[in-house]
Amino acid sequence: MIKDNLLHKIRTHDATVAVVGLGYVGLPLVLRFGEEHFKVLGFDTDAEKVKKLSLGKSYIRHIEESRLQTLQANNLFEATTDFQRLAEADCIIICVPTPLSSSKDPDLQYIENTADAIKQTLRKGQIISLESTTYPGTTEEILLSKLQATGLAVGEDYFVVYSPEREDPGNVTFSTRTIPKIVGGITSSCLEIGRELYAQVIDTVITVSSTKTAELVKLLENIYRSVNIALVNELKLLCHRMDIDIWEVIEAAGTKPFGYTPFYPGPGLGGHCIPIDPFYLSWKAKEYDFSTRFIQLAGEINTSMPYYVIERLAAALNEKSKAIKGSKVLIMGVAYKKDVDDVRESPAFEIMEFLEHKGAVVSYSDPYVPRLTNSRRHNFGHMSSVSLTEGIVRSQDAVLIATDHTDIDYQWVVDNANLVLDTRNATRRVMRAREKIFHA
Ligand SMILES: NC(=O)c1ccc[n+]([C@@H]2O[C@H](COP(=O)([O-])OP(=O)(O)OC[C@H]3O[C@@H](n4cnc5c(N)ncnc54)[C@H](O)[C@@H]3O)[C@@H](O)[C@H]2O)c1
Repeated sequence: MIKDNLLHKIRTHDATVAVVGLGYVGLPLVLRFGEEHFKVLGFDTDAEKVKKLSLGKSYIRHIEESRLQTLQANNLFEATTDFQRLAEADCIIICVPTPLSSSKDPDLQYIENTADAIKQTLRKGQIISLESTTYPGTTEEILLSKLQATGLAVGEDYFVVYSPEREDPGNVTFSTRTIPKIVGGITSSCLEIGRELYAQVIDTVITVSSTKTAELVKLLENIYRSVNIALVNELKLLCHRMDIDIWEVIEAAGTKPFGYTPFYPGPGLGGHCIPIDPFYLSWKAKEYDFSTRFIQLAGEINTSMPYYVIERLAAALNEKSKAIKGSKVLIMGVAYKKDVDDVRESPAFEIMEFLEHKGAVVSYSDPYVPRLTNSRRHNFGHMSSVSLTEGIVRSQDAVLIATDHTDIDYQWVVDNANLVLDTRNATRRVMRAREKIFHA
């Protein structure tokens, strides 16, 4: 009866959907459910974000304000910090952060806090879906074990699933609706309701046999990326010694129509997922006396890349009879990847820190990141993006391309710069003055 009622509410879009954590993952889901006429309640602990969103303002570049405002005009979206209102929701989707602690262990405090909040108001007829990326076992060991303390029965009174997010900010080919969604449930009823919930807003939903399986699916996807990026990063170092252009190699290999997927080298890993998630699995594997060697090796190679960039810059400046100490270096692009405004874990900061430590005079330019804030690891809160004027570029000893935003005229940059260190092959189409370009 409880299950049938909830299924009916979901199928008729009468269910109220709560999204907990209104970030890069939560906001696209808010839009997706709202645009299918579900009433959506957004929860966040950050009162500033809630205030902005309540005024119809988006704080993420690729989340269009007009879409949020349309939902609000139709009374389909409200943002709040009042977690008592979780009781109003039939479906609760958790999209809170899962970072690493300073010792690279999983930091599950956000999931734990959310589970505690949900527990306060848990009632019959609710489904809870965890989407945050995490190690296999989290849904049962953290979320479910807290909810079980209420005495309600999972699979009968309330339902729990894990469904990993596969959001790719800035990707213009795939959207939340068209990216297939994986769901695993605690019981078969949980799975049935979870599948039905996502099927209302996502074209393809794939069910797997358990929440643990669904948790590992997400980690496999991210570890696969991390390992393959490490592979091309290592090959890049070898190519440099052998005087072979790694980018040409990758482009040519990419013409093979089967059995090969291209990955690209860079100045190091960035973003919320790839530098972090693999370590969630390494940590959990220790409980089973198991060492995840691919993850460790990929981690070592990828984290060493910013050091390589510095070495290459020193070598390039050396050719101009200059040292890093005292040189003016402009970092182009501090977002962790092109065309986004997300700077989390960006390798640009590692590079900037090394350069400052070695006595360089560092500035940055990024059209999507007008100013920096201090983070747990870096203190660049005093810095703002400089405009890319002829005068600024000409006055630098080196311009270091850390991120290859599309809307930059790289020929213009090379024309005006004294030296360009390109970590992303952004200058591949530059025709004039190629002798100024160095690769890292
Ligand atoms: N960003 C991506 O592209 C991406 C892709 C796939 C998966 N993920 C995963 O999704 C999860 C969320 O990532 P994100 O990028 O959206 O993070 P985010 O930092 O952009 O958003 C998380 C939001 O949760 C809020 N928050 C923190 N604690 C809270 C609490 N107790 N209750 C309510 N809100 C709380 C924060 O204020 C923030 O607004 C992570 O596990 C991440 O690994 C992210």
